[in-house]
Amino acid sequence: MADSLLQCREVCVRFGGVQALSSVSCTVEKGTITSIIGPNGAGKTTLLNAVTGTVDPASGSILFAGEGLTGLPPHVRAGRGVLRTFQNLEIFTNMTVLENVMAGRHRMGRYGVLDAFFRTPRYRREERATRDAAMHALGFVGLESMALLPAGELAYGNQRLLEMARVIVAAPDLLLLDEPAAGLNMQETRQLGELIRRMRDELGITVALVEHDMELVMDVSDRILVLSFGAVLAEGTPLEIQRNPEVVAAYLGTDDEETTDGGA
Ligand SMILES: Nc1ncnc2c1ncn2[C@@H]1O[C@H](COP(=O)(O)OP(=O)(O)O)[C@@H](O)[C@H]1O
Ligand SMILES: [Mg+2]
Repeated sequence: MADSLLQCREVCVRFGGVQALSSVSCTVEKGTITSIIGPNGAGKTTLLNAVTGTVDPASGSILFAGEGLTGLPPHVRAGRGVLRTFQNLEIFTNMTVLENVMAGRHRMGRYGVLDAFFRTPRYRREERATRDAAMHALGFVGLESMALLPAGELAYGNQRLLEMARVIVAAPDLLLLDEPAAGLNMQETRQLGELIRRMRDELGITVALVEHDMELVMDVSDRILVLSFGAVLAEGTPLEIQRNPEVVAAYLGTDDEETTDGGA
C-alpha cells in the first residue's frame, strides 16, 4: 500500500440526483497496468474525471504519490504527471502528425511568449528538443514514417496510435486511458495491448485502463477493478476476476455489448 501511486479513498460523485460514484476506494500501484471495467454507466469515466480534476467529488480524497489532488485544477495535476486520453479522439486533423505530437509536449515548455516571438536561441533550442522528443514518441508507436502527413489522412487505428504518441511525449507518470480500443479491429487491439505493455515496461508509465474489450483487459492487466452502479464490485488479478461469481453474474456473463469467449 505504501507504494500506491494513486489512492482513491471513499470518493463520492453526484450529478443532480444521480450518484455516479458512491464511496469508491481503490489503488493503482506504481508500475502496473490496472484496468477499470464495468457496464455502461457504472462510473468508470467519472472516476477518471475525478482523478484528472474535471469532476469534483462531493466527498472523499484522491492521493497521487502520497499528495492530495483534491481541489487542484486539471492542468496542475497534468503538471504533476497525471495525464489522460479521452473516449473520443481529439486529433488536430489539419496539423501534421508530428505537429500533433509536438503539441502534447508544450505543457513542458519553459520559454515564454517573447522567446517564441523573437525566436530566441532558447526558443529554438527547445523547439528542437520538442521535435526530437516527438519523433522519438512517433517511433515508439510505429508512426515515424507518417510524421509529415496531415493527421486527418491517417486511418482511424493510426490516429489512435498518434493520440498515444501525443501523450507519451508529455512523459506521464500515471496515464489514464478511456476506452482506447474503441473502434479498433482485433489486430489493432492486439497491437495496442502490446504498446500499452511496452509503455509500462520500457517507459515506466503506470496505466489505469478503462476498457470494454475483455480480451485486451485480461491480457494486459496486472489488476482489475470492477465497478457496478458506482460502487466497487470486485478487485483482483485477471484470473480472480474471471472466477468471481458476482462479477460473472453482474457483468461478464450477461454483457449485452461485445463479449469475448473469456480470453486468457
Ligand atoms: N456530466 C454529467 N452530468 C450528469 N450525469 C453524468 C455526467 N457524467 C456522467 N453522468 C452519469 O453518471 C453515471 C456514470 O457515468 P460514466 O462515468 O460516464 O459511466 P461509464 O464511463 O462507466 O459508462 C451515469 O449514470 C451517467 O449518466
Ligand atoms: Mg465511459
